[in-house]
Amino acid sequence: MLELRNVWKSYRVGTLGSKRLTAVRDVSIDIAPGEVLSVVGESGSGKTTIGKMVLQLTSVTRGSILLDGADVTARGHAARKAYYRRVQGVFQDPFSSYNPIFKADRIFEAVRESYFPAVKRAEWSARVDDVLQGVRLDPGSVLGKYPHQLSGGQLQRMLIARALLLDIQVLVADEIISMLDASTRIDVLNLLGELKERGLGVLFITHDLSLANYISERVVIMRHGAVVEAGATGKVFTDPRHPYSRNLLASVPQLHRKWSDSDAEPEALEPDGDRDVPPPPLTEVDEHHWVAGV
Ligand SMILES: Nc1ncnc2c1ncn2[C@@H]1O[C@H](COP(=O)(O)OP(=O)(O)OP(=O)(O)O)[C@@H](O)[C@H]1O
Ligand SMILES: [Mg+2]
Repeated sequence: MLELRNVWKSYRVGTLGSKRLTAVRDVSIDIAPGEVLSVVGESGSGKTTIGKMVLQLTSVTRGSILLDGADVTARGHAARKAYYRRVQGVFQDPFSSYNPIFKADRIFEAVRESYFPAVKRAEWSARVDDVLQGVRLDPGSVLGKYPHQLSGGQLQRMLIARALLLDIQVLVADEIISMLDASTRIDVLNLLGELKERGLGVLFITHDLSLANYISERVVIMRHGAVVEAGATGKVFTDPRHPYSRNLLASVPQLHRKWSDSDAEPEALEPDGDRDVPPPPLTEVDEHHWVAGV
């Protein structure tokens, strides 16, 4: 179980980092084994920042991140390496995860060197073949190729295969479906479904509300760095209570049964206030359904 407890993130911005921008405000979420938690919300709402903090690519300003109860923030190199055996990420642009001058399968060799140096090459290549087949890639057609010789979907699936070699518990997937064509999207989506069945927890960051609805058990809606609504996907998407959630979901009529038959004007929203004060607390309005500021 991965938990974020009251996590805040401020970036230094402006010349010489003289100003601070609070990108994530008092976010508490958890991801259990075998579930997909979607994080949705407008551009700039802090979704990627959450993913980066979980992956320890950026520091946590305040609050803590725990894996199976142990705080994982601000620890040394060995602890971080152990953490990456359990938690890995796949990003929107898979090319950025590869070094173009090396063959793409070097990512697998790097895992062996770092984590399984005692495993013999023949045994390792059998494991690589296995995980590639697990993500429905033909080893013969992807091994030995450079990143530019592979498609975005193939590169993403290879990153997921790398995660499988490590036998991870949590996968952070940030906009991973967005750049894929329709048929590859289905493949990657089905793959995520299989990972879920194997007991993996997935933090699924997306702009795409229909995708979030399709794939996730639970959803978190973010605005201005804070959670405005959260809970079971079915409840949040069919009965959104926060005006921001209602506006967001009104743009996806088929998901939005209650509002689809009204020509509701967008609702007035609170402006972005002081980001350094805690956001309104979440209240449980129904079982497995929380809303901020009610
Ligand atoms: N490295 C950084 N330095 C300074 N500010 C940053 C940095 N990264 C992100 N921000 C700011 O933090 C806020 C949240 O950004 P973030 O990338 O987390 O949003 P997002 O929800 O992922 O948006 P999108 O949907 O466009 O991907 C934005 O205002 C952004 O400009
Ligand atoms: Mg983002």
